[in-house]
Amino acid sequence: MSALKTREQWGSKLGFILAAMGSAVGLGNIWRFSYVAGESGGAAFLLIYIACIIAIGIPILMAEFSIGRRAQSDVVGSFETIAPGKPWVLAGFLGVASAFIILSFYGVIAGWSLHYFLQYFTGGPAAGEAGGYGDYFVNFISSPIQPLFWQFLFMALTIAIVYGGIKKGIEMWNKILMPALAILVIGLAIYSLTLGGAGEAMSFLFSPDWSAFSDPAVYLAALGQAFFSLSLGMGALITYGSYLSKKETLPSAAVSVASLDTLFAIIAGIMIFPVVFAFGISPDSGPGLVFIALPEIFAEMNGGLIFGFLFFFLLSAAAITSGVSLLEVAVAYFMRRFEWSRKKAAVIIGTIIFLIGIPSSLGNGVLNNVRIGGLEILDAADFLASNIFLPLGGLMIALFVGWGWKKTDALRESDFGDTTIGHLWVFVLRFIAPVMIMLVFLNAIGIF
Ligand code: PHE
Repeated sequence: MSALKTREQWGSKLGFILAAMGSAVGLGNIWRFSYVAGESGGAAFLLIYIACIIAIGIPILMAEFSIGRRAQSDVVGSFETIAPGKPWVLAGFLGVASAFIILSFYGVIAGWSLHYFLQYFTGGPAAGEAGGYGDYFVNFISSPIQPLFWQFLFMALTIAIVYGGIKKGIEMWNKILMPALAILVIGLAIYSLTLGGAGEAMSFLFSPDWSAFSDPAVYLAALGQAFFSLSLGMGALITYGSYLSKKETLPSAAVSVASLDTLFAIIAGIMIFPVVFAFGISPDSGPGLVFIALPEIFAEMNGGLIFGFLFFFLLSAAAITSGVSLLEVAVAYFMRRFEWSRKKAAVIIGTIIFLIGIPSSLGNGVLNNVRIGGLEILDAADFLASNIFLPLGGLMIALFVGWGWKKTDALRESDFGDTTIGHLWVFVLRFIAPVMIMLVFLNAIGIF
């Protein structure tokens, strides 16, 4: 029945671009970028990351938009529509699985952000005597119930927006929240540069330590971060592309989304690292980095409570617009496959994902002894999804458009047409992107 109803669509091209930006810009740009860059040597990581965005990220982003708009279906349905009976559909199932895993731990971190937001509303987190904000953070994330409450709240908000549908839910909220976030992050970065650590931060971020280039782990981290930050490799952008009408043009949208996302990460780095150095925090302190470093600025500055409040509000908002795109991947699939209504799918799938995320939260406290491949539960889920599933999904998407689609179809569906840049794009998807992803994989497991 539902398949006969007309499928929802974006209200405008701007609405689509903002939604894609909303998906891309999230915890990945601020929380994940800063700690991964901090652990992976700063500037060397940043250079490899930017190379991955340009050489692999943008071409695959274009591939996802083209597949989605052409097929007008969810991730699994898109492959089934364009290449019925072929194994490409595995990329679709991998995408749905990635959506479950990523959103399960994403909700945990986003919950932390919501908690900090409310703390600033009521006077700010209290710095412990000796351990400062580090202590506060560790106490909070290791308590069993509190973080679950915030994770639940985050999932409830995400479900509510997906429940509202494409135009009235997803598009409307992205239009409001994205511009506000941009203004605040720029303002904070400028303030942060006036702190004592600016010089050290700039050289950490922009002048590479060449020895880092010989470490295979840095390449895998940069590739995983590029996929995670651009929301690539799991069909979020196939799904969003599928709500586009056929008359919009794609390449400019892809380039705007990728540039804005990268700019956001760099500005977030300029906001965070001066504080890290000014307060003697170690850049490789791991996933807690923003939650420990930023409260230091807010405690120092005039009106810091208001800034803290605004910052964590917007970080939470950015997380919600990304969480929405993750949930939408799974919801769109279940709606079509099982003929569920949007409302039913949003509530059921959102609840399941919340439950799957509980161990990731408890891994910071009561399940602290559990290690998967040497990592805590949340970090293991993140590693598996971001560094393995997303690049693998991206590899399949690149191969699909490069080899599984007729070249003339790919060129037409992408709006590149018979142009040099179009031919270059197909060449990248056929050879460059797959080879680079394979090399990074082989390199990381020590074969190459
Ligand atoms: N890109 C989002 C972020 O940077 C996370 C995300 C990953 C969203 C994959 C959708 C799909 O926070």
